[in-house]
Amino acid sequence: MTALALVGLPGSGKSAIGRRVAGRLDLPFLDSDTVIEQRIGCSIREFFEREGETRFRDIEEEVIAELAHAGGAVVATGGGAVLRPANRRQLHEHFHVIYLRSTPEDLYRRLRHDVKRPLLQVADPLGRLRELHAARDPLYRETAHDAVDTGRPSLGAVVQAVLVRLEAAGQAVPAGGDTAPQPLAARTGR
Ligand code: S3P
Repeated sequence: MTALALVGLPGSGKSAIGRRVAGRLDLPFLDSDTVIEQRIGCSIREFFEREGETRFRDIEEEVIAELAHAGGAVVATGGGAVLRPANRRQLHEHFHVIYLRSTPEDLYRRLRHDVKRPLLQVADPLGRLRELHAARDPLYRETAHDAVDTGRPSLGAVVQAVLVRLEAAGQAVPAGGDTAPQPLAARTGR
């Protein structure tokens, strides 16, 4: 049974790549931010403003714990999902986790017009992305079994790289396949 989770900073392509990988493997695609928005009944930005980040992180933790038991699926997580140790543990234990790695500069190029992400609605979004990268890169590395660079390559090339990593870890089951779960390979070299 394939269980893949993608982690990485906002704009690293977790949802776009996750959706395509799920399509290639004929698996359900789940986006933790979408599940959260369904639960809170409003946008994440609005919820941050009204209830604050801690309350958002509490709901995110509940949702990650539920998704960890979703079985075969591809899951895209929110960029801050790795902040809580409980989430890092759930993700690492229940999924093959791939870190979609990008530089703050590449992310800024993609997100400079973004209005949805509360943490980037600041005077200096590039500076904020640099801070987030410095604080979180070690947490993404700790959570993930593998990493794929998403800087310059096309979306298709990144999707392909993710599929190759999954297959190497014994996790990419061909559509309609029926093999036993494989142990997650804890791998280095990222
Ligand atoms: C956040 C990233 C967002 C969303 C929320 C907080 C973060 O998800 O969960 O705005 O802390 O980096 P994306 O990574 O999908 O933008």
